[in-house]
Amino acid sequence: MSSIKELVQSADWKSEKHVPVIDVADKAQKAEAVKITVTVGKEIAHPNTTEHHISSIEIYFLPRGEKFPVSIGRFEISAHGTSAKGPNTSTIYTQPEVTLNLKTEKSGTIYATSLCNIHGLWESSKELTVE
Ligand code: FE2
Repeated sequence: MSSIKELVQSADWKSEKHVPVIDVADKAQKAEAVKITVTVGKEIAHPNTTEHHISSIEIYFLPRGEKFPVSIGRFEISAHGTSAKGPNTSTIYTQPEVTLNLKTEKSGTIYATSLCNIHGLWESSKELTVE
């Protein structure tokens, strides 16, 4: 049996549409919130249809030198075109882009995951230095 860590995929987001792209300043000030935006399909758009879509984005923060990550946001991406008339008929679609504000006095690593209903779980990470 394999571990879930073997199932999480990563790649360069400029060439792979499933990778969550983390936009955040490289440095933040203590006691000041820093804005984090995670987008899927930033360079190459991912399909957003009833049959094929991004269904969730999760964001974690691992303080430098610590073992356990802290969950800082879980987002369900839930509108993919369905209506009572059937698949792709509502014209209502949630785009896979989320923003939150993080307040931390510790430097560390931001991790993001995205889940495609067909192509599985993807990850990326970005360092954040707090001064
Ligand atoms: Fe996909």
